[in-house]
Amino acid sequence: MKYIVYVSQAKAPFSKLALKELLEKSRARNSNEGITGLLLYRYSDDFDKGYFIQAIEGPDDVLNALWDRISEDRRHHTIVTLAEGKQTDRMFPNWSMGFRNVEAKDLEALPGFAEIETESFWENLKANEMPEAVELLRGFY
Ligand SMILES: Cc1cc2nc3c(=O)[nH]c(=O)nc-3n(C[C@H](O)[C@H](O)[C@H](O)COP(=O)(O)O)c2cc1C
Repeated sequence: MKYIVYVSQAKAPFSKLALKELLEKSRARNSNEGITGLLLYRYSDDFDKGYFIQAIEGPDDVLNALWDRISEDRRHHTIVTLAEGKQTDRMFPNWSMGFRNVEAKDLEALPGFAEIETESFWENLKANEMPEAVELLRGFY
């Protein structure tokens, strides 16, 4: 079993309806394929931009296929992996895709993510340099 945690920027802010559709489709497909995880969406009023933080986990081949689809999804960009690796136990069992529409104050509890709407967060981001991201997100479970 494998997991990936990443952040990305929405191409355009997601409406409530667009988020609902994304979630419904993702949950149905993830349940069928044995994927579990968590999706956080943060909309910044200041920048009129949307940001995603997602953890996905599942069998290697299924997870790789999902990752290919997510990476090519044109609804978001600047997709940066924070952590990835192998695991034996799921971190989000029972969550075909947990979801929270988070606000700034929710992210204050997640060191490293509090600044997600600033340019410096994205400028300083380097792939796979936030292994603690998994544990932080696990706090939502
Ligand atoms: C932020 C974000 C998270 C996504 N999470 C999932 C997911 O957990 N599971 C899933 O099947 N698709 C997810 N998708 C959608 C996929 O990118 C893709 O559109 C979907 O799997 C259908 O792919 P297909 O049209 O090639 O069949 C996500 C898309 C975005 C933008």
